Amino acid sequence: MTSTSSVAAVARIAYLSSDVLVDSRPPLPTTSSFADTFRTLSHERAGSKATYSLPFGADVGSTLVQHSSVGLLSYTATSHPQLLHRLVLPLSELASTPLVLHVAVNDDLSDALVLRSTVPFCLYSRTAQQAHDNALLASRLARVEGKPVLHIFAEVEEELDEVKEEEVQSFLFAQQHSVVNGHVLPPADYAPALYRSYFDVAASTSSLVHHSVQALSQQGPTDPHTVVFSLGRAQFDFEEDGVNFVDVSLLHPLPAGRVTDLIPSSTVRVLIIEQVARWSTKWTPLYLDIVGAIQQSKRDEYPAVYSVVLENSGPVHHSDFLKLLENASGTSPSTRLHIGAAPSLSAVSETVAPHIPKHESSYLKILHQVFGERLEISNSPELVPSHGQLATTPEFALGRIRGQLESRAELVGAVQELLRDLGVTPHLHALLSKWLLVKDDPTKSRQSGEDILKALQSDEAPSTAAERVLALREYFPALSRWIVGSDAWSYDLGASGLHHAIASRLNVNILVLDATPYSSRNTADPQRRKQDVGLYAMNHGDVYVASVAVYSSYSQVLHAVMEADKFEGPSVVLAYLPYKSEDSPALEVLKETKLAVDAGYWPLYRWDPSKEVQGKEPFSLDSDSVKNDLQQFLDRQNHLSQLVRSKPELATELVSSLGENVKEARRKRAQQSYQELLTAIDAPPLLILYGSDGGKAEKVARRLANRSKMRGISTTVATMDSISLEDLAKEEYVAFITSVAGQGEFPQNARTLAKALHSAAGRSEKPLVNLKFTVFAMGDSHYWPRPEDAHYYNKAGKDLDSRLALLGGERVADLGLADDQDADGPETGYKLWEPLLWKLLGVDAVEIKEAEPEPITNEHIKVASQYLRGTIAEGLEDKSTGALAPSDTQLTKFHGIYQQDDRDIRDERQVQGVEPAYSFMIRVRMPGGVCSPEQWLMMDQIADEHGNGTFKITTRQTFQFHGVIKRHLKKAIQDINRSLLDTLAACGDVNRNVITTSIPTLSKLHQQTYEFAKGVSEHLIPRTTAYHEIWLDKKLVAGDAIKDVEPLYGEFYLPRKFKVAVAVPPNNDVDIFANDVGFIAIVDKNGDLAGFNVTAGGGMGVTHGNKKTYPRLGDVLGFCTVEQGPNIAEKIMLVQRDNGNRQEMGLDVFKAEVEKLLGYRLQPARPFVFDRNIDDYGWIKGDNGKHHFSSFIENGRVQDEPDRDFKTALREIAKIHKGAFRLTANQHLIITDVASEDVPQIAKLLATYKLDDVSQSGLRLSSSACVSFPTCGT
Ligand SMILES: Cc1cc2nc3c(=O)[nH]c(=O)nc-3n(C[C@H](O)[C@H](O)[C@H](O)COP(=O)(O)O)c2cc1C
Repeated sequence: MTSTSSVAAVARIAYLSSDVLVDSRPPLPTTSSFADTFRTLSHERAGSKATYSLPFGADVGSTLVQHSSVGLLSYTATSHPQLLHRLVLPLSELASTPLVLHVAVNDDLSDALVLRSTVPFCLYSRTAQQAHDNALLASRLARVEGKPVLHIFAEVEEELDEVKEEEVQSFLFAQQHSVVNGHVLPPADYAPALYRSYFDVAASTSSLVHHSVQALSQQGPTDPHTVVFSLGRAQFDFEEDGVNFVDVSLLHPLPAGRVTDLIPSSTVRVLIIEQVARWSTKWTPLYLDIVGAIQQSKRDEYPAVYSVVLENSGPVHHSDFLKLLENASGTSPSTRLHIGAAPSLSAVSETVAPHIPKHESSYLKILHQVFGERLEISNSPELVPSHGQLATTPEFALGRIRGQLESRAELVGAVQELLRDLGVTPHLHALLSKWLLVKDDPTKSRQSGEDILKALQSDEAPSTAAERVLALREYFPALSRWIVGSDAWSYDLGASGLHHAIASRLNVNILVLDATPYSSRNTADPQRRKQDVGLYAMNHGDVYVASVAVYSSYSQVLHAVMEADKFEGPSVVLAYLPYKSEDSPALEVLKETKLAVDAGYWPLYRWDPSKEVQGKEPFSLDSDSVKNDLQQFLDRQNHLSQLVRSKPELATELVSSLGENVKEARRKRAQQSYQELLTAIDAPPLLILYGSDGGKAEKVARRLANRSKMRGISTTVATMDSISLEDLAKEEYVAFITSVAGQGEFPQNARTLAKALHSAAGRSEKPLVNLKFTVFAMGDSHYWPRPEDAHYYNKAGKDLDSRLALLGGERVADLGLADDQDADGPETGYKLWEPLLWKLLGVDAVEIKEAEPEPITNEHIKVASQYLRGTIAEGLEDKSTGALAPSDTQLTKFHGIYQQDDRDIRDERQVQGVEPAYSFMIRVRMPGGVCSPEQWLMMDQIADEHGNGTFKITTRQTFQFHGVIKRHLKKAIQDINRSLLDTLAACGDVNRNVITTSIPTLSKLHQQTYEFAKGVSEHLIPRTTAYHEIWLDKKLVAGDAIKDVEPLYGEFYLPRKFKVAVAVPPNNDVDIFANDVGFIAIVDKNGDLAGFNVTAGGGMGVTHGNKKTYPRLGDVLGFCTVEQGPNIAEKIMLVQRDNGNRQEMGLDVFKAEVEKLLGYRLQPARPFVFDRNIDDYGWIKGDNGKHHFSSFIENGRVQDEPDRDFKTALREIAKIHKGAFRLTANQHLIITDVASEDVPQIAKLLATYKLDDVSQSGLRLSSSACVSFPTCGT
């Protein structure tokens, strides 16, 4: 054993273990005590280590970053506030670097502890032996984890054992063992991964140094009444009855469980002694961690926890300790106690409840600590005596700063001028040039300025030329200029001068302190509205903005003030410090801060526009709880989770979804319309405004606009809500067309204007005296059939007509009325109304020779689409909008994709002038509804990664995803294809997913009908290669040379969707007669499939408002064999395709048409019986001996809900299940083909997640919901 200083011991280990060493020298005249050891060691060895000795004030961060990829990097320094605070920012860049920061401390730990939360590991060594051991531990930990480790140690000189040099290397690179010398790793649920890693390395260190190396070491009884945690030099060389002393050697990560294990239930009092007299906030670091750990623990009685500050590093005598115990008994736990020789134990602090003497002090202390003499508070209260009250206002401060910056610019000019003076000595010349280079460097500019002054004072320049520079000498150092104010400024940004400061573009930093407690946020000054200064400043663009709370994250405050200082331009730091009165106890401030930050009332964030220039994400969200909430939200909204992973895209996505391009497009369109309006001077221009929910009124409006244009009238068509009442008052001729939606209500896109008209009428105003109007009202006289509801008929149009007149408008043509019930539908009324309009505009005599452009129908779109291609591929590339072109949205249906938008925020987004929030629904094609567990897992993942985190089982036995944004569409389809499923023809005017009875008991028959269903589906699938080309990137061979053909569908595809089902009696769960084609399985004597009775019907399709369509149930046509089935389905489809008006055919004619195409007659139908149509829930055993469980999935929605984590449950089942999943046509799920030995395992999972609960009412068990509900919007 030799007596060595801890610094030398640490320096030796650092030297031996690292690849590069960086040492910071203390301020002159002191020299680095680490460097002595480095020098000696390198002299003793051939080939010295790469060692960098940095002067005080050098940029340590960039040197470390520069060497971040060298292997192990060690940094050594003696604690100094200006040195360590400057490391906060670079440490975030070094998060994945094997780096050890050895910091020697000779009195107070406060400065070193500031770095504690910026690194994953923080160790403390009280003795020289600990310093040696922890230096080894830290080096290995940093290498193993590839992360920074902070090692703070006391500067002491003591006896210690050092490891041999040759052992160091082998220790650093030794294999990791989970059990070393009897140390067994703590269980994973007890300790986080980082702690386990620490534990492992500590155990290896113990066996190397042959004594215990522990995070916390305790001495004392097992049932103490008092537990004392000690961080710092305090040494307790005495015993005290009932008191347990715990020496803290690991500060981070310290698992709560590890702490509370040391506080047995006998404990009534916990003292936390820390050597942090200079700590700038009330609550000290270890105290917060331990209080947090105790709060998390579950116990009947919680001990009182006291924070004690160790004032100096001298010995703690027994008598001091007894006095401390006595004082602790007499005060409330929120009082900070003191121990140590000075300032004397009588300083066992104030007996009154503590308060923050000056609420600003904690932030101001930080500013002082970080910037030291560079700090300039431009509106400091100290200026009041000389400048009056005005001195505290931002305008005053801004004026001062402006003046100072101008003077500094003047100094730069003076220095440059002096440089040109020939009388200047070469030495001064060099100094002046150097200052110009370093003038913006916080530390070098001051030193360099002082050197110039010295030279000037020793006459190294002609006195006249030097005079100007001397006069401006105070501007040599680059200062950090701050304006400090309160949230009172946020009530009136303009009057408070804050606006001017933000808009000034000067390099000024503004600290705004907000003291409103979270719990009184709603009562604070209810008459006045506070403005969000942060948002306001961010809107200015080139302003740094941060929102911080010192009692929530100290290091984030440091980050923010340093970034603010660095930022070239205005910076605003909003600082939270909630207190009700000057006397508010600090505990309350802490509590209020936590509430506000966790609730998101005071989010912690930083917005640094300079990062954007470097291509980095300018916004960082720092509040953990909000971040977690956001993460959870994004996980739920899974399409966005992808965006979170790639942050830069998140920003652009959000910005572009704000629809800048949409706004631009609208602006252009408006300009164009205006130009057109100006050119059409002959006839009065006509504005057509419509209100339409379902599109009928819109179609009428657009056709009217076409016809009007053909008559030479300058015509504009728009929704009613696109115009304000003020703008309407400026129009001359307006034709309104509106339908009714709901009980007499206006359609969605007409409600705002309707409301404005209503309110104006209520105020008896007459704003529309220049307006000439006519209204065409569209409705359905039988929509609300009860006689007492008759007044709803065309109510919206009628109300509009009377209200416009009331507001002073001139009705130039009578109200037109359209009734869906009329012989020709709305056309009947329209034909009477339109001529009135032409007459009024004086164009009734105009003869139209050209054919009127036909409105574009789906058929046109299909034909022009080049076999369902359209411009989908181009639309997917267009990042300016979240939507596809309207015609493409008709085509994507054939690819299994529907475009939708969030209706709930439609109005809000319209007001904001941005496009609707578009997303897509994707439906899978999965004939017979059977999938493997692997496919299930893939679906689960697709919902998470691309959709809204849930998915649905549809009545057509397939999966449906919602909320997929455009950017994810292709990836989602590709993932579905990777699972050997596809989405082709899952929607659209083609044959849809073929469904079949799920019959789990009769596996053989199910297999046969399932194969048949698959065969029919494949037979009727569209042949276009567009799907593969667009979604799977399979390019067209030789460009357009190979043309698609659709032998079944042709270019027009079908007039409407087509549905096929296969039922196995006696269960009609597929609702066979609601399909266009049905196959009813007929079995032979052996129970094998003999063939099918074929049914044909109308698929229940009906067009709303079109009296000529009605739901048509299926009829049995006859019997066919299994082989004949697919061809029969095809022929029925062709007859329907070519005879859209099938109801006029009659069954016999229809059958004859089908048989004509088949070339043979169907056999007579065979007997069958259906006796049920719902699923049989619970377990059953099939004829192959396998077990099947039918579970009730309400409305087919696979999602996790409180207490019903069905999505998780099914994922867990899919992970172990060896059989299959069958989706039922009632939107439920059967877990099939479970071997007897696997039943208990599956049953256990079902029970754990309550999926085995089928005790609902019969009505509920047989309920089902529209699969789109509540998301349908198209
Ligand atoms: C949900 C709903 C509610 C309706 N309520 C009424 C009503 O109260 N009075 C009426 O005359 N017509 C009512 N109708 C009929 C529509 O106004 C009529 O079909 C109209 O032609 C639809 O036009 P649109 O597609 O432009 O919205 C209603 C239609 C729907 C879908």
